[in-house]
Parts: sequence; C-alpha cells; structure tokens
Amino acid sequence: MRPGSGREASIAAAVVAGLLGPGVFLARQAGAAGEPAAAAAFASIVPVLRHPRCMNCHSSGDFPRQGDDSHPHAMDVRRGPGGHGVTAQKCETCHQDHNLDGRNMPPGAPDWHLPPPSTPMVWRGLTDRQLCELLKDRRQNGNRSVDQIVEHMATPLVLWGWQPGEGRTPVPVSEAQFTAKVKEWAAQGAACPAR
Ligand code: HEC
Ligand code: HEC
Repeated sequence: MRPGSGREASIAAAVVAGLLGPGVFLARQAGAAGEPAAAAAFASIVPVLRHPRCMNCHSSGDFPRQGDDSHPHAMDVRRGPGGHGVTAQKCETCHQDHNLDGRNMPPGAPDWHLPPPSTPMVWRGLTDRQLCELLKDRRQNGNRSVDQIVEHMATPLVLWGWQPGEGRTPVPVSEAQFTAKVKEWAAQGAACPAR
C-alpha cells in the first residue's frame, strides 16, 4: 500500500458519502462573494486610471500626451527604445524629479519616462475588464504579482497624479480612497469587472 493512500481512500469515501459537500460549498461561496466585491472595488479606481494625468503616459501611440485633451506631446517627443525618449530628446532633459514652478513648465517626478515599447501598458480603448486583465498580465505589467501592483500604486509616477503641478487637474478620488480600494480589490481576490 502506498503511504497516504489510506487517507486518499477515506477522502474519496467521504466525497462519495457527500460528507465534504457542505465544506466545499462554503469555500465556493466565499470565492463567489469576493468576486463582486473585488470587481466593485476595481470599478471605483477606474476614474483615476482613465484620467488624463495617467492616460498621458498610458495612451496609444509611441509618444506621451499632454493636457486634459491628451494631445500629442509638443516637439514631437517620442517613446524611444527604453521609454526615456530618443537620444536627441530625453525625458530627463526637461523633466526633473519634481514639478517646475509655473504654468506650462515641465511636470516631474523621479524617473519620469514612458513604459518601454515591448510592454507599453496602453489602456486607451480597453473596456474596464480588459484594463483590469492587462494590469494583472505578468507578461505586460513588468512581471508583477497582484501584491506588487498594489505597491506600484504608491510609487512616485502614480502619486504625481494628485500633485500634477500648476494648471493641471489632479486625478479624481482622494489618494486615501484610491489606496484603500486598490487594497480591497487585491484582498478580495483581484477579480475583474464583467465587461
Ligand atoms: C510619466 C509617465 C507616467 C505617468 C504620469 C503614469 N505612469 Fe503608470 N507607468 C509608467 C511607466 C514607465 C510604467 C512601467 C514601469 C515599470 O514597469 O516599472 C508604468 C506602469 C504602470 C502600471 C503597471 C504596473 C502594474 O503593476 O501593473 C500601472 C498600474 C500604472 N502605471 C498606473 C498608473 C496610474 C494609476 C497613473 C496615474 C495616477 C500613472 N500610472 C501615471 C509611467 C507613467
Ligand atoms: C524639450 C523638453 C521636453 C522633453 C524632451 C520632454 N518633455 Fe514632456 N513636457 C515638457 C513640457 C514643457 C511640458 C508641459 C507642457 C504644458 O503644461 O503646457 C511637458 C508635459 C508632459 C506631460 C504632460 C502631463 C499632463 O498630464 O499634462 C507628459 C506626460 C510628458 N511631458 C511626458 C514626457 C515624456 C515621457 C518624455 C520623454 C519620452 C518627455 N515628456 C520629454 C517638456 C518636455
């Protein structure tokens, strides 16, 4: 007799007898209860994700965008091979690690750049569900786990959205509320909205 097979046999017998039924049912129910809660928490952070402050770096095209109308960045600034611009026009030439004072001056935060061309993290044109799936896709999100996504949401380029510099509209939803909802989404199993 293989070790452990006695236990397996008794589990099998219990299943046949329906003894595990209620336990399995309860486990499923907990999962199902978390799903709508996670999806609702995700839905409440979508207005931030889709705001121009975030979209101007997470938009379509191989260039950043500017302003609340998300027009292409002036001076034909390009993404470049690593997201830091092309040799003649590096982001860091103009963007510092903090916002420069005054209207129409370059905003800034540490390591200001676009995602690289291989994983551009473009969420323009996606449904809420697709956006949620993209954030969790390790092949596209910088190989991050859900917990690491939560951590990422408190890094300088994200936090800049609440302090975007003179003349720019900050992202909606308070930072505390956003952080709480991101954590709730993860804690409830990080399910995505239905569509
Ligand atoms: C200046 C450009 C810039 C701005 C502004 C910006 N991001 Fe990003 N974002 C990036 C870059 C670059 C990456 C890829 C970083 C990496 O992989 O380390 C990224 C990656 C991400 C990711 C993917 C990481 C993951 O774990 O799934 C999320 C989510 C994200 N940003 C959220 C936001 C939100 C929310 C805002 C607005 C509040 C925002 N970003 C604003 C440049 C920006
Ligand atoms: C020649 C200088 C210069 C270079 C190079 C440059 N920028 Fe800018 N950028 C600016 C200025 C100036 C502004 C502010 C424009 C305004 O507010 O009218 C700006 C604004 C932005 C904004 C708009 C923020 C918002 O939400 O309105 C983003 C995003 C941005 N730059 C990203 C980048 C990225 C990424 C790179 C490199 C790939 C880059 N920039 C390279 C000068 C530059």
